[in-house]
Amino acid sequence: MKKKYNWGILGAGNIARKFASDLKLLPAAKLYAVGSRSLERAESFASEFSVQKAYGTYEDFISDPEIDIVYIASRHIGHYPDTLLCLNHGKPVLCEKPIAMNRHQFRKMRALAESKRLFFMEALWTRFIPSFLKTMELIRDGAIGEVRLIESDFCFCPPYQEEGRLFNPELGGGTLLDVGIYPLFIALELGGDIKEIQAMANFGKTGVDTMCHMLARHTGGVMSVLSCSIVNQGNVETIVQGTKGRIRLNKWWHTPTSIDLIDANDRVEHIEFDEPGFGYQYEAQEVMDCLDQNLIQSSKFSLAQSDRLITALDRVRELAGIKYPQRLEKV
Ligand SMILES: NC(=O)c1ccc[n+]([C@@H]2O[C@H](COP(=O)([O-])OP(=O)(O)OC[C@H]3O[C@@H](n4cnc5c(N)ncnc54)[C@H](OP(=O)(O)O)[C@@H]3O)[C@@H](O)[C@H]2O)c1
Repeated sequence: MKKKYNWGILGAGNIARKFASDLKLLPAAKLYAVGSRSLERAESFASEFSVQKAYGTYEDFISDPEIDIVYIASRHIGHYPDTLLCLNHGKPVLCEKPIAMNRHQFRKMRALAESKRLFFMEALWTRFIPSFLKTMELIRDGAIGEVRLIESDFCFCPPYQEEGRLFNPELGGGTLLDVGIYPLFIALELGGDIKEIQAMANFGKTGVDTMCHMLARHTGGVMSVLSCSIVNQGNVETIVQGTKGRIRLNKWWHTPTSIDLIDANDRVEHIEFDEPGFGYQYEAQEVMDCLDQNLIQSSKFSLAQSDRLITALDRVRELAGIKYPQRLEKV
């Protein structure tokens, strides 16, 4: 019989709630513990999701020997210190995106995980959802011929909250790290390594990047045109264009969604997927499959893939002038 895994969630916020709800779909997963900076928040989360243990500090949480794997659901700026804390307590880690504020932090996290032989993966959930897997399969099977161009956008207009994590530079706010990571992710996955990139950003009142546009040439010759924004209601679609046709991943393409396969004569085959949850269960299952096999990283979204992604984000930041307070970038 396969093992049942005791999951611990660090940070009792928005994404933690969706992940907790999806864990219930997995027979091998038990949501065992939650750690928050506030005992009240931990207890309220625990009662909402029937979690056995609630801790009011991250230190107390991580000292629980029964936790098999930690899902880090804190804000961007917490990913580096919180991952180090978990790894230093001998816990495997699934860490929310972006994996760190920069590649230097990521490389330190990776080195620690590897030296301790602990599983470590970025929670880039899109890599595991059925609509993305189907897109990869169609491309592999030649449904659109040779891929030539990837157009990917993530432009939306969330409510403006100056202190909130999207607009506050002290919390690692801005569009690129929060949602621009998705267009870059799909460009890298489907277009391969980036050879050259250009980028330009607009900045808002609080100083964070509110729009960012990127143009890339990949090593195999594919080009990509990518955009993200938190100040305009735009596209949240991806279109992969090939020599025989194109695939459109429809709105909120980074989540489980429908796709359209469109041929050279504009005939559309619409493909829907039956989705039982929010879609976070697929990445969680991948983690448990890897742990079952004693792997310390996933071959589907490896640490090399995370490195490539965070390195591309660093490069875009450099080109577009996206900066954070120095202490948030510290290694
Ligand atoms: N994969 C996805 O679809 C997806 C979607 C949304 C967000 N995310 C990622 O998930 C992460 C969390 O996003 P979220 O929307 O869940 O954020 P959130 O609810 O605003 O905050 C998450 C948690 O971070 C913890 N935290 C730790 N230090 C903090 C500090 N100094 N100030 C405020 N909070 C602090 C808090 O937990 P405690 O107070 O309980 O300790 C808070 O509840 C982000 O990095 C984001 O990129 C991913």
